[in-house]
Amino acid sequence: MSGRFDGKVAVVIGGNSGIGLSAARGFAKEGARVAVTGRSQETLDAAKAELGGETLAIRSDVASIEDSEAAMAQIKDAFGAIDALVVNAGIGEFAPAPDVTPEAWDKVHGVNLRGCFFAAQKALPLMNDGGSIVFTGSIGSTLAVPGNVIYAASKAGLRAVGRILAAELVDRKIRVNLVSPGPTETPIINRSGLPPEAIDGMRQTMINAVPMHRMGEPEEIADAILFLSSAQASFITGVDLFVDGGCVEL
Ligand SMILES: NC(=O)c1ccc[n+]([C@@H]2O[C@H](COP(=O)([O-])OP(=O)(O)OC[C@H]3O[C@@H](n4cnc5c(N)ncnc54)[C@H](OP(=O)(O)O)[C@@H]3O)[C@@H](O)[C@H]2O)c1
Repeated sequence: MSGRFDGKVAVVIGGNSGIGLSAARGFAKEGARVAVTGRSQETLDAAKAELGGETLAIRSDVASIEDSEAAMAQIKDAFGAIDALVVNAGIGEFAPAPDVTPEAWDKVHGVNLRGCFFAAQKALPLMNDGGSIVFTGSIGSTLAVPGNVIYAASKAGLRAVGRILAAELVDRKIRVNLVSPGPTETPIINRSGLPPEAIDGMRQTMINAVPMHRMGEPEEIADAILFLSSAQASFITGVDLFVDGGCVEL
């Protein structure tokens, strides 16, 4: 069976859980050799076992530029070059503005903005001309949700990163886009720092805010990432595609 990524190399930064793992599955199913990165050795091992074949599962903290450089060196050794890069790693932390600490700000921005930018920068020398980069943004970059200032500001910065890279990379024929999910069923909510008893309430609040009255599934976000990474999107660059059940546009 031929796939959209036959003979291609796909790299998912933050590919061992949730949306990133779902995208990695899609790339592998459609013919790509895949590398995933993340911090958790347990879920990296599980991803490698599931994706099989030549899959590289690299333990790498995106907040560390040295880690990103080392990951790219490993990918270069194993695969030589990258056709589709997905910069998906992200964390959330919620606090109203008066309670925001510099530590929480730096932690989230160190991953979502600084870390994701430098991961992409370190990947650039490996990118084949004609390739694609997709960043996972968030509807948070656009919506004014009280309590979300740390995360929203990091994703708004990432939106700027994606659009500027799109402009800078046009001559290399590398397309750069964002996929911005709405509320999606992944482990991220359990890692948001909220007490367990607050998580159900948070989920329900999010569902109430979605015009389609439900959370998205990671596969629905991954499908958009795969589309933008594929030749089917050959005339699309610089977009921020909301995959959100209508949250932003309705
Ligand atoms: N789920 C939603 O409702 C939603 C909505 C809008 C946007 N998003 C965005 O979607 C992306 C994927 O999130 P998800 O919902 O799929 O959550 P998830 O299941 O928690 O996945 C997050 C991924 O990022 C990786 N990651 C986090 N910090 C990292 C670090 N310092 N270094 C390397 N990897 C790191 C995680 O790996 P480890 O587990 O190994 O740390 C994991 O692979 C994120 O950018 C998130 O902001 C999610």
